[in-house]
Amino acid sequence: MADEAKAGPKRSLSGIKSTGHPHLGNYLGMIKPAIQLQDTHEAFYFVADFHALTSERDPVAMRQQTYEIAATFLACGLDPNRGAFFRQSDVPEVTELSWYLSCVFTMGELERGHAWKAAKDAGEPGRAVHGLFAYPVLMAADILIYDSHVVPVGKDQIQHVEMTRDMANRFNFHFGDTLIVPEAAVREEVMTIPGIDGRKMSKSYDNGIDVFMPAKKLKQRVMQIVTDSTPLEAAKDPDTCNVVSLYKYFATPAEVAEMKDKYRAGGFGYGHAKLALYEAIERHLGDKRATYDRLMANTKELDEVLAEGARKARAVARETMGRVREKLGFPRRPVGL
Ligand code: TRP
Repeated sequence: MADEAKAGPKRSLSGIKSTGHPHLGNYLGMIKPAIQLQDTHEAFYFVADFHALTSERDPVAMRQQTYEIAATFLACGLDPNRGAFFRQSDVPEVTELSWYLSCVFTMGELERGHAWKAAKDAGEPGRAVHGLFAYPVLMAADILIYDSHVVPVGKDQIQHVEMTRDMANRFNFHFGDTLIVPEAAVREEVMTIPGIDGRKMSKSYDNGIDVFMPAKKLKQRVMQIVTDSTPLEAAKDPDTCNVVSLYKYFATPAEVAEMKDKYRAGGFGYGHAKLALYEAIERHLGDKRATYDRLMANTKELDEVLAEGARKARAVARETMGRVREKLGFPRRPVGL
């Protein structure tokens, strides 16, 4: 019944936090697959600035990083006219839905969250803020308020989507069919992108390669990828090398096969491999970087896109909230609105 709430193409929804610069792990694991979904779904994507606030307390950085995420999505081909692209905080109704969900979800369930456990165990009590504990509830509100069907996310967010499903089912159980139970869309082949040290590429490990760093810096960063000390002449194992793992995402299958052959033959050093990787990334992202740089130099255009997205998103959110409030025994609209 809740499915009837929206006719037309199914909606795909995702958010990306405005903390740090987007890196290739974010790009391959989430940004690129999410943008591809706009061809089959109505794409609602947003900059998760409410979520960023759990760790970002510098307003200048918040503003800058919001623009960076926005410019990245647009440069990578997101068409905001087909769906909606907006700032999370421009639709404050999500915090209201978040409260309603808080009233059907238990502390025990939230205590099992990976992100919360990691923050609590990090030995910095100041980091374990309530916003981090309640993070999955706000994320569920983000997803449920837009009647989303599909949620493209990286592997680290699967648990949050599972919790969202639990919250939607719980709400529907108590109040009757109201919220659509969404599915996570995780691309198996890009489950874990290695960083320059071979561990998962992550802001917290500082091992990332930023999507749109200037070409010269990109080259330097690629050259820093950690490899073993096998000498240039010796044969190497392509299947355990970080350079090859990243190359696969940017080169053609024929180029990857060729690089693997060169590894096995010997006489091909890691420096050569890194150079080929750099060139493949540059080929893939060079034009997009030009668009990114143009947008970052003209943030007014970004503001306009985000404002238009917020208008569209807010209309959908208000619709859902009317439905939700009615189920709770509240007026569909607060008095006077
Ligand atoms: N938690 C996500 C992340 O850290 C960001 C996010 C916030 C999100 N709300 C969302 C992702 C809703 C998908 C759907 O990457």
